[in-house]
Amino acid sequence: MVAFSQLSRRRDAFVGTFFAAILFGSATCLPEFGNPLIARRTDNATLPYRDASLCIDDRVNDLVARMTLAEKAGQLFHGGIQMGPNGTLAPATPTANSTENVVGEKFMTHFNLVGEVEDVRMTAEWYNRLQRRALQTRLGIPVTLSSDPRHAFTDNVGTGFSANQFSQWPESLGLAALRDPELVQKFAEIAREEYMAIGIRSALHPQIDLSTEPRWARIANTMGEDANLTSQLVVAYLKGFHGEEFGPHSVTTVTKHFPGGGPMENGEDSHFTYGKNQTYPGNNFEHHLIPFKAAIAAGARQMMPYYSRPIGTEYDEVGFSFNKGIITDLLRHEMGFEGIVCSDWGLITDTFIIGQYMPARAWGIEYLSETQRAAQILEAGVDQFGGEYRPELIVELVETGVVSEDRIDVSVRRVLKEKFTLGLFDNPFVDASAAEQLVGNAYFVRLGAETQRKAYTLLKNADDILPLDPAADVKYYVEGFNATLLMSRGMRVVNSTEEADIALVRLQAPYEPRDGGFEARYHAGSLEYNSTEKARQAAIYSAVPTIVDMYLDRPAAIPEIAESAAALFGSYGSSTDAFLDVIFAVNESQPMGKLPFDLPRSMAAVEASAEDLPFDTENPVFKFGDGLRYKE
Ligand SMILES: *[C@@H]1O[C@H](CO)[C@@H](O)[C@H](O)[C@H]1NC(C)=O
Ligand SMILES: *[C@@H]1O[C@H](CO)[C@@H](O)[C@H](O)[C@H]1NC(C)=O
Ligand SMILES: *[C@@H]1O[C@H](CO)[C@@H](O)[C@H](O)[C@H]1NC(C)=O
Ligand SMILES: *[C@@H]1O[C@H](CO)[C@@H](O)[C@H](O)[C@H]1NC(C)=O
Ligand SMILES: *[C@@H]1O[C@H](CO)[C@@H](O)[C@H](O)[C@H]1NC(C)=O
Ligand SMILES: *[C@@H]1O[C@H](CO)[C@@H](O)[C@H](O)[C@H]1NC(C)=O
Ligand SMILES: *[C@@H]1O[C@H](CO)[C@@H](O)[C@H](O)[C@H]1NC(C)=O
Ligand SMILES: *[C@@H]1O[C@H](CO)[C@@H](O)[C@H](O)[C@H]1NC(C)=O
Ligand SMILES: *[C@@H]1O[C@H](CO)[C@@H](O)[C@H](O)[C@H]1NC(C)=O
Repeated sequence: MVAFSQLSRRRDAFVGTFFAAILFGSATCLPEFGNPLIARRTDNATLPYRDASLCIDDRVNDLVARMTLAEKAGQLFHGGIQMGPNGTLAPATPTANSTENVVGEKFMTHFNLVGEVEDVRMTAEWYNRLQRRALQTRLGIPVTLSSDPRHAFTDNVGTGFSANQFSQWPESLGLAALRDPELVQKFAEIAREEYMAIGIRSALHPQIDLSTEPRWARIANTMGEDANLTSQLVVAYLKGFHGEEFGPHSVTTVTKHFPGGGPMENGEDSHFTYGKNQTYPGNNFEHHLIPFKAAIAAGARQMMPYYSRPIGTEYDEVGFSFNKGIITDLLRHEMGFEGIVCSDWGLITDTFIIGQYMPARAWGIEYLSETQRAAQILEAGVDQFGGEYRPELIVELVETGVVSEDRIDVSVRRVLKEKFTLGLFDNPFVDASAAEQLVGNAYFVRLGAETQRKAYTLLKNADDILPLDPAADVKYYVEGFNATLLMSRGMRVVNSTEEADIALVRLQAPYEPRDGGFEARYHAGSLEYNSTEKARQAAIYSAVPTIVDMYLDRPAAIPEIAESAAALFGSYGSSTDAFLDVIFAVNESQPMGKLPFDLPRSMAAVEASAEDLPFDTENPVFKFGDGLRYKE
C-alpha cells in the first residue's frame, strides 16, 4: 500500500495510476483524472469523489486533497456508538460524547454499534439518521458502522452481544466443533445479510487466536486449539462475509488478534493490568501466525493487533499496536498484509467501562503521555485508533512536526478506499422495511437453531442412556434451566434427586468470579470446580443417573464428571430447547460436534503446560476431535 500511495499521488502520471489499478484490483483509473476540467468542478453533486463513474483511487485522491487536517484526523478514529432513545442520535452522557459531537465536531465516520439490536426497524432508521447527519458535514463522508459478534449467546460489551433479533447460532467454537467449512461460509453469508440490512458494514471478527492456554477468558469466540482447523475455517468465514468479490455487497472483516492472542501469561487477559504479558515458553511464536497467513492469503481486509506485549521474543516488550517490529516488519513486510490495521479499543485514554476504572492499555509504555502513545501507534504502522475519540492529538502531532501529514495521508487513504469500495458514498442508506423482513427470518433462524443442536459434542454416553425416550414414564430432576420448558413437553419434573429417575443438569464451565463491572464478565482462573461445588454435584451423580450439559466457553477440567455422570455433553452456546431436542433426539437431532480443544485433567496439568503450545497438558480427559454419536 505504501507503493500504491506513492504511485497514485503522482496525479500527472498515467503510468503510475495504471499500474496501481492493476496491482490493487480496482477499476482502471483513466488519464483524464489529471484533466483540470475535472479537478476544477465545484458543484457539490458532481465533485469527482462523489462521481461513481470515476475509479476509486481517483475518488480517494480527490477527496483527500480537499480535506483539512482535522477532517483527516477524524478518519483515524473508530469508537463505540449507541443508539439514542427511540432511534434518535444519542445525547451526551457522563462517559460518552453525543453523536452530534463525534460526527459534527470530531469528524469521525467509523463506529462500532454498542448494545443488542432489540428493534430492527428502529435500528435501521437510526442508522439512516446517523448517515444523514454525516452527509451534512462539510465533505459529507458517510459512516462505516461495525460490530462485535452478535449471532450467538455471549453478552459482554467488550467482546460481543447476544443475538436478540438476529438469527442465533452457537459461538464460533461451535462452528469449529462441526469441522464444516461450507457451514461456516453459510453462517457468514447469513450474518452478512443480517448485518447489511441494518447498515453494519464491518465485522470486528473473526477471532482466530489459537486456544493454546486453556485458562484464557476469550476462548469462546475463537475456533479452538488447532492451527490447521482454524486456518481452514477462517477462509470460509472471510468468503462468506466478503462474497465472491469484495465490494458494495460485502461486509468487511477485521481479523484478530494479531499475532495471535492465545499465549496469555498464566491465562490472564490483557484488557487488565495483571494480564498484559504474552509469553512463549515453548518457543512457538510462529505457530500462532499460521491462521493469519491463511487469512491474508484469503483476502483479509483489516487486522486488529491484541493488547498484550510479547515477553522474551525478538520483539520489543510493548503492546502489539505500539510495536513496529510486529506491525510494520512482520505483518506488513514479511507477511505482505496490505490492508487496514485497526488497534484494539482504548490504548491511549484512561476510561470507565461498566463502572470500572480501566487504565489505557498502553502496556510497556504506560509512562508515555497520551500524545506520545498516539505517535508511537502511528510509528508502528497502525492506521486506526480503536475505542478512542481524540483526533485533536493527531492534529497536535502534525502541527508540532512530530508526525508528517504524509504519514497521516497514508492511513486516511487506506480507510477511505475501504469506504468507497464498500459503496458507502454511492449508497449510504438502508431500507428499514426490508430490514424488518430479512433480519431474523424463519429460514435464518432455523439454520442457526439446527447448528446449535448439531454442534453438541457427546463425550460420554454410558449404557447408551441417550437419546432419552420422550414417551417413557420417568421423573426428572433438573438444574440449570427452566423446568417449565420440560413440563410443557409433557415430562414430569420433581424437586429432589431422591424422587427422580434421571437428572438433567446444565452447567457453566468452571471459573473464579472476579470483581468489577467489566472484569466480572471475563471467566478466568481455575478450570476446576472448587471442593464445595464438586461435593454438591457428586451428591447428584451418586443419587441418580445424570445427563450433564457443560457450556464450554473454556476447556473445563472435569474428570470427576466424566467419571460419575451417566452422560456428558460439551456445548458452545445453545438454547434450552436445543438441549432438550438433542437429549430426546427430537426430529432426529443428533450431537455431531467434535471437541475443538483438549479438556485438561487438572489445573496442575494446565499450570505445568506452556502457554504457547497446543495439546500439551498431561493426560487430558478428552482430546481434540473426541465426540460420540448416538447408537443407530
Ligand atoms: C418513545 O416513543 C414512544 C412512542 O412514541 C413514547 O411513548 C416514548 O415516550 C418515547 N420515549 C422517549 C424516551 O422518547
Ligand atoms: C466531549 O467532547 C469535548 C470536546 O469535543 C470534550 O471537551 C468533552 O470532555 C467530551 N465529553 C465527554 C463526556 O467525553
Ligand atoms: C456544498 O456543500 C457545502 C456543505 O454542505 C455547502 O456549504 C456549500 O454551500 C455547497 N456548495 C454548493 C455549490 O452547493
Ligand atoms: C496441518 O496441516 C499440515 C499440512 O497440511 C500437515 O503437514 C500437518 O501435519 C497438520 N497438522 C496437524 C496438527 O494436523
Ligand atoms: C510481565 O513480564 C515482566 C518481564 O518479564 C515481569 O517483570 C512482570 O512481572 C510480568 N507480569 C506483569 C503482570 O507485568
Ligand atoms: C420459566 O418459564 C416460564 C414459561 O416461559 C415463565 O413463566 C417463568 O417465569 C420462567 N421461570 C423462570 C425462573 O425463569
Ligand atoms: C415441587 O414440584 C412441584 C411441581 O413438580 C411444584 O408444584 C411444587 O411447588 C414443588 N415444591 C417445592 C417445595 O418446591
Ligand atoms: C465454590 O463454587 C461455587 C459454584 O461455582 C460458588 O458458588 C462458591 O462461592 C464457591 N465457594 C468458594 C469458597 O469459593
Ligand atoms: C419437527 O420438524 C418439523 C418440520 O420441520 C416441524 O414441523 C415440527 O414442529 C418439528 N417438531 C418438533 C417437536 O420440533
